[in-house]
Amino acid sequence: MNLVSIDPNKCIQCGECVTACLGLITEKDGNIVPEVHEDNCFFCGHCVSVCPTDALVHHGLNMKAFNDIPWPISFSPTDFLQFLRERRSHRSFQKKKIPHDHLELLIEACRYAPTGSNRQKTHILVVQETERIEKLAALTIRYLYHLRDLIEKKLARLRSEEKEGSESYKQSMEALNNCNNVLKRNESGLVEPIFFNAPAVMIFHSHAKRLGTPKDDCVIAAHTVTLFARTLGIESCYSGAFVNAATYYPPALEELHLPSDHMVYSALFLGYPGQRYLKTVDREPIHVKWQ
Ligand SMILES: Cc1cc2nc3c(=O)[nH]c(=O)nc-3n(C[C@H](O)[C@H](O)[C@H](O)COP(=O)(O)O)c2cc1C
Ligand code: SF4
Ligand code: SF4
Repeated sequence: MNLVSIDPNKCIQCGECVTACLGLITEKDGNIVPEVHEDNCFFCGHCVSVCPTDALVHHGLNMKAFNDIPWPISFSPTDFLQFLRERRSHRSFQKKKIPHDHLELLIEACRYAPTGSNRQKTHILVVQETERIEKLAALTIRYLYHLRDLIEKKLARLRSEEKEGSESYKQSMEALNNCNNVLKRNESGLVEPIFFNAPAVMIFHSHAKRLGTPKDDCVIAAHTVTLFARTLGIESCYSGAFVNAATYYPPALEELHLPSDHMVYSALFLGYPGQRYLKTVDREPIHVKWQ
């Protein structure tokens, strides 16, 4: 079945759909010819979005969900850059739950994050029960103890081989310091150093197959949440520590009960900030090469 049909009475032959589509809609002898099928279409909806006369219908997409986009963008580059600069990692949260409708909105925002080949296979696990969050934090701490043992063994081996000057030794020392910092904070009992008592944790997971770009898709979805959440007064922080635990320490992954072929690719803890940043920060220049 051809998924795209074009109303000849509305089509003005502008060719916009031909330009927008990756080769499935062509122009032959002055006619626009769609050859769009289940197995070759990305379902990206670009063809519908560019048609100026609503002549083009895609039967595999919800046509009612195509809304007009006002132009130009209504916020300035300066305002948006400032918004980006004001996003910081938060590790102090009010003891206030995030209402369910706001969590739903965060998930809604993810639907519009781009995915490789428009695969849309990102899943999100939202954890709000305090005991569940504490359990995941405790498993991450157990992973870090396990990791510290492994790093210490590796360092001892490198020392016995007189490789203290090697890159591998330096990297292992850095990893050991990072581990020790978190474990020391945990042992102090002053703060829970994995999710910082945040009222919600969002875990982004997808299939572990080589096909597609599941990690990129999950990270982009997570960053979409991080930015969009700010419009609701919600701030967040990534948890690389938890992602590593879920990747390298089977008990942490098992605790999530994900589909058996899934991996965790990104995680955020989030809530209403217990602290306000009053100033933005400067950053290292990006290494850029112009060609
Ligand atoms: C992929 C990634 C993983 C991170 N993992 C952690 C983490 O496990 N724990 C934590 O407290 N912060 C974590 N962070 C936060 C970074 O430390 C933080 O983004 C960085 O210091 C810059 O600060 P800013 O986000 O406030 O600008 C992570 C950030 C990223 C991008
Ligand atoms: S949905 Fe995308 S890939 Fe499919 S016909 Fe339209 S533009 Fe082409
Ligand atoms: S974009 Fe619409 S009006 Fe233009 S050629 Fe395609 S179907 Fe016709």
